[in-house]
Amino acid sequence: MPDTSPPAAALLAAIRAVVGDHGLLTDPADTDPYAQDWRRLYVGHTSAVVRPASTAELADVVRLCARAGVSLVPQGGNTSMVGGATPDADGSQLILSLSRLNRVRDIDPVDMTLTIEAGATLKAAQTAAADAGCLLPLSISSEGSAQIGGVLATNAGGNNTVRYGNARDLVLGLEVVLADGEIWNGLRRLRKDNTGYCLRQLFVGSEGTLGIITAAVLKLAPRPRELAVALCAVPSPDAALDLFTRFQAHDPASVQAFEYMSGQGVQFVIRHIQGAALPLAEPAAHYALIELATPRTNAGLRASLEQVLEGALADGIVSDAAIAESDAQRAAIWRLREEHSEAQKREGASVKNDVSVPVSKVPELIRRATIACEALIPGIRAVPFGHMGDGNIHFNLEQPPGADPAWFLAQDHAIMDTVNDVVRALDGSFSAEHGVGQLKPYMMPDWRGGAELAVMQRIKAALDPRGIMNPGKVLP
Ligand code: MLT
Ligand code: ZN
Repeated sequence: MPDTSPPAAALLAAIRAVVGDHGLLTDPADTDPYAQDWRRLYVGHTSAVVRPASTAELADVVRLCARAGVSLVPQGGNTSMVGGATPDADGSQLILSLSRLNRVRDIDPVDMTLTIEAGATLKAAQTAAADAGCLLPLSISSEGSAQIGGVLATNAGGNNTVRYGNARDLVLGLEVVLADGEIWNGLRRLRKDNTGYCLRQLFVGSEGTLGIITAAVLKLAPRPRELAVALCAVPSPDAALDLFTRFQAHDPASVQAFEYMSGQGVQFVIRHIQGAALPLAEPAAHYALIELATPRTNAGLRASLEQVLEGALADGIVSDAAIAESDAQRAAIWRLREEHSEAQKREGASVKNDVSVPVSKVPELIRRATIACEALIPGIRAVPFGHMGDGNIHFNLEQPPGADPAWFLAQDHAIMDTVNDVVRALDGSFSAEHGVGQLKPYMMPDWRGGAELAVMQRIKAALDPRGIMNPGKVLP
């Protein structure tokens, strides 16, 4: 069992000797921002934030903590939606910030690989890839802050999963500091490597509970030479799905993102985000955002987009559409989608449900979960949005106007359970891309109990016998 009393002064002194004054924050004014999550749902406490500048330093810190039985909470950009990077309140856990491990170690346009440290932001990684004429095909709303280590530790998904898969599909190699401080250097950049258990995939998605990812080799894709983006007003989620299947049938290789938004969600963005505007004549009840991309030249992507939209307009699948004519217009359309979380936060208290179902069931999920939540709390506002093309909907619920935010948040389990009942009936998952964190471990026995959870617990016990790696996360 990890120690639950505050770390001894002697341990902090030994850590300071490893990372230097600059690498150790102990003043509450400095540490408090690290101890609460982005959504301000979890307010923890820590006596120190440790900021190593190299993998070797980080390994030494883990070794010292392992010997002392002190728990560590790894943290990247602190963008978790499920409290995955927030310590608990008793002050016994140290935060291990990866931010200073942020170098690009190597980029190879022939191998199409990027070797990068965990503390680099996803945006910085994308830029490094683009500078080398390649694409890092992972895009999430928080990419300006989210760091590679956290992105991998949570197996982030995002907007391009429909085409390129999730974070785990982009990882060729990893460097990991294990729970006893040993460094595993698995930074291989091989496309084929069948040599026993695939350890890197064990750490991807483990949310820092098995070891700390310090660097990764990521697979790059060819840079798109043509892009086409449209925002469509659609009469229903079923129409949005119909539109998706039309694009897939027309040219499946070109669909890079297919996102759904409700009229309510877009209204919140326009209300709360300065400069956000609807590029259509009238607001609609539902929207689809389509991005087509191809590395081919003269591929006629724009004509292809217009052709599918013309058919959809003629058939009443789409009632209006705006096609981006410039990078600025493309960014403005994406902004309506990417500011959803921020706008919901400003509108009031919200309960998030990051769920997935088979793509074909998305309209049914939206319909049934909306009815069920409205029956549970009259006046509640359903704000479903997200990655329709891969079946991942953020079925978020906003408090009734004027209701007490604390009263609303106190009903989070009832709301999540109501949505999850529908998700289960549709063969879905209670966590699609945000992970389990400290918000959802209570769901694990019900959803993953039996052999699956037992194997996870055995793995945890084998790799982290003292239970010092991000305790309280993932496993109940
Ligand atoms: C997104 O796709 O914007 C996020 O995963 C956010 C969310 O659920 O709020
Ligand atoms: Zn998302």
